[in-house]
Amino acid sequence: MIDSIAKLPRVQLGFYPTPLTDAKHLSAELGGPRIFIKRDDLSGLAIGGNKARKLEFILAEAKKQGATAVVSTASAQSNFCLQLAAAARKLNMRSSFALLKGIHNETQGNLLLQNILDSHIEILEVADMTLLQGSFISDKLNAVAAKLKAEGETPYIVKHTLPETPAILGVVGWITAAEELNQQFADLGIDPDYVVLVNGGGGTQAGLEIGSRYLNTRWKVIGIPVLNKAPAARKAVADQANAASEYLGLGVTISPDEVVVHDEYIGEGYGIPTTEGINAIRLMAQTEAIFLCPVYTGKGLSGVVDLVKKGRFTSSDTIVFVHTGGIPALFAYQQEVVK
Ligand SMILES: Cc1ncc(COP(=O)(O)O)c(C=O)c1O
Repeated sequence: MIDSIAKLPRVQLGFYPTPLTDAKHLSAELGGPRIFIKRDDLSGLAIGGNKARKLEFILAEAKKQGATAVVSTASAQSNFCLQLAAAARKLNMRSSFALLKGIHNETQGNLLLQNILDSHIEILEVADMTLLQGSFISDKLNAVAAKLKAEGETPYIVKHTLPETPAILGVVGWITAAEELNQQFADLGIDPDYVVLVNGGGGTQAGLEIGSRYLNTRWKVIGIPVLNKAPAARKAVADQANAASEYLGLGVTISPDEVVVHDEYIGEGYGIPTTEGINAIRLMAQTEAIFLCPVYTGKGLSGVVDLVKKGRFTSSDTIVFVHTGGIPALFAYQQEVVK
């Protein structure tokens, strides 16, 4: 492990390494590249997903600061908030969330699981994702934290955006995934060309970008955004990658134009399923018996399918698709997914 990461406080929330499996049927169906799937949907926290790696560092920091409760925000049906609520329970902490209104606000999917965890949730009357960055949400989170304080708790606000420490620690979690992948590639005797993953806020891609550069790998990272168009997605990845690299003293930097993303699979917007994404969910289930989600990984695989069609990935390539989780959302999106 990278020295400066090994020195950071960390709590165990997931089971690592997550499996790396050969998706032979999917690959044959596409008539394209050899495809491996990195199963971070099996990370083992709640119903799994990419947030467990991030939270191992974020919650260790919260614990170090004496926190007894966590407070955060995202959109309703957020996988991050479910995983944070679950991690909090494992660490004997309470959790409270102020969530932006989403497409599905009923107590189903992630919101059902958060209800079972007895995580406190307020769904706000606003849906604009850009609000996650401004004072409107930070005032809300401060108010939630103040209420917890009045109840005798020591709250820790998990803020997703730079320059906040949780945003940087999340990226650190995914630098460890780059090391883990490299080890698995060596164990399996494979030499992949590309690691492809969904890009939301971009922290996961940022971790893999910095990790792969620091380790000087031959494999390159490709992101499929589900939220931001290419310029904003590239900048978000570079900013977070550079912040994490500086925090760890890795001496690696990356500029936005080195970040590769294909942004044509977002559809009408974040959280709104696409026909291609739903088809990709069915394709993955029917070839590999693996479930994806309509918000993130289904759109991600729809990108892979299209890039194979366009010849961006050829039959001589080996690619790794990172399954970042999101499965609970399938149930909230029953209406859109059912044929
Ligand atoms: C299932 C799933 N995949 C991918 C992502 C994207 O992660 P990031 O925000 O680090 O880009 C998220 C989180 O937003 C997610 O929940």
